[in-house]
Amino acid sequence: MTLSPSAPIRRATPADAALLSRLAARTFTETFGHLYPAGDLQAFLADAYAVQKQRTILSHPDYAVWLLEHEGEAIGHAAAGPCGLPHPDVAPGDGELKRLYLVQGHQGGGHGARMMQVALDWLQRDGPRTLWVGVWSENLGAQRFYRRYGFDKVGEYLFPVGGTRDLEFILRRPA
Ligand SMILES: CC(C)(COP(=O)(O)OP(=O)(O)OC[C@H]1O[C@@H](n2cnc3c(N)ncnc32)[C@H](O)[C@@H]1OP(=O)(O)O)[C@@H](O)C(=O)NCCC(=O)NCCS
Repeated sequence: MTLSPSAPIRRATPADAALLSRLAARTFTETFGHLYPAGDLQAFLADAYAVQKQRTILSHPDYAVWLLEHEGEAIGHAAAGPCGLPHPDVAPGDGELKRLYLVQGHQGGGHGARMMQVALDWLQRDGPRTLWVGVWSENLGAQRFYRRYGFDKVGEYLFPVGGTRDLEFILRRPA
């Protein structure tokens, strides 16, 4: 069945840790898996998306994760929290969109935009705030998407995936 334009987006809870771990590994692999040797990919997934790490994030009041659902199954996730990107202008209190992924087959239908709005609203729940996002240098679609929300490139860094180092762009949206 096609995805409804109003498919539910719900805040994830610590009980979603295992589900989030699986979904995050799936969407990262679908999007970027072809870029890395299998060993590098597996090492990254096992570390970054470990169930315990998801539980820690999901239990932390400064972080929030949302799930997009279709027929009771999670098919997208977004995550936000304090900015951890390596840029000299990052200030205490700045926020970061940490993840935004939909599974293949459900992209391009406006659901990324809906999830983005939920994350932006949460990040600015106490008022305007400088926001950041990191994006792979060759992920031109996502860069176009973020530019629509006022994110512009202000730096770069190398993002480790196992033994591979990816060039990532750092984007910022002024408060
Ligand atoms: C990036 C992403 C979350 C956007 O959500 P979406 O629901 O596909 O996007 P929307 O329909 O709300 O908006 C469409 C815009 O998103 C951008 N976009 C990025 N990747 C896209 C994709 N695979 N399919 C369609 N649009 C994509 C384009 O700018 C597009 O606008 P355009 O049609 O004018 O080119 C989603 O495409 C996705 O999960 N992509 C793969 C994972 C990824 O790259 N995540 C970002 C990591 S930093």
